[in-house]
Amino acid sequence: MAITELQAGALNARQFIQDQVRQIAQTVGDGIAITALSGGVDSSVCTLLAHQALGDRLKTYFVENGLMRQDEPQRVAELFARFGVNVEIVPAQKEFFRALKGLTDPEQKREAITQTFYAKVFRRLVKQSGARFLVQGTILTDVEETVAGIKRQHNVLEQLGIDPRRAYGYAVLEPVIQLRKDGVRKVAKALGLPKSLYARMPFPGPALAARVVGEATPERIELVRKATAILETEMRNVKAFQYMAILHEDRFPGMREGKRDYGLQIEIRCWDSVDARVATPVWLAPHLLKKLARRMTEEVPGVVSVTCNIAPKPPSTMEAV
Ligand code: XMP
Repeated sequence: MAITELQAGALNARQFIQDQVRQIAQTVGDGIAITALSGGVDSSVCTLLAHQALGDRLKTYFVENGLMRQDEPQRVAELFARFGVNVEIVPAQKEFFRALKGLTDPEQKREAITQTFYAKVFRRLVKQSGARFLVQGTILTDVEETVAGIKRQHNVLEQLGIDPRRAYGYAVLEPVIQLRKDGVRKVAKALGLPKSLYARMPFPGPALAARVVGEATPERIELVRKATAILETEMRNVKAFQYMAILHEDRFPGMREGKRDYGLQIEIRCWDSVDARVATPVWLAPHLLKKLARRMTEEVPGVVSVTCNIAPKPPSTMEAV
């Protein structure tokens, strides 16, 4: 079934909230739903909509998959406690790294993450909580790119012909599926979420695994996590839709203490975009690039090369994986 787009400009956020809260309440009835909060704007909006609709009958989880940014689980739990939402942190690092072991192909990595979320972690959480519904923040751009075969977005199921009830034993509710990122931000603001959240950069479902070229081992994820923390600190005042640090797979000749060092490469991408469908690189100031190069090579172990990608989307995609 085709999804009707609700464009941000024409969107009445308050009406949208009322409609979605009513819809969720009707669908779930007197049952229980779960939601997996990632700390991004899409899942945050869905959590608050479902919380308004269901109160304590919504169980909110943060899946600690080992692929998230520094301090993310605690930060998310603290923020949502202010909205009366109790966030339970679910440790699942081992399951995700086991699923990613040995995988280097981008689509296989994405598929492994999808299956670990839906077939393992969510299935278990649904069983434990007695829920029959999963509320999640799929947006229209996710669906379009997956259906077009550009990239398998981790949260797209039904549009690929997967019936989650039959495949996983629970139904999926997607309250923001008619919106794009700019529309979701508008709703987030109307819900009273702080600017640090509603204006927050998008972060992909496969998390830092989308930013490691080649195998996403715990060690390599830790390197890109360090690079990401440096990048997000140094670039916090840059006006951009999204920026990211990517760890490459190739080894690059370098030198350290007068000796050859086959080291690592970090690539920086900084994007200007409205809705992530097309994007252009932001030209970063030389003093910022210089500082990033210094900090990445000094603070991320093994890095000898730092590059900045200047290709637009298309033909690039925004994430590396
Ligand atoms: P790409 O790399 O497809 O990214 O050009 C476009 C936008 O989507 C985000 N992204 C994802 N978001 N699940 C998500 O929820 C995913 O699997 C996923 N992959 C990419 C990406 O960060 C960018 O904003």
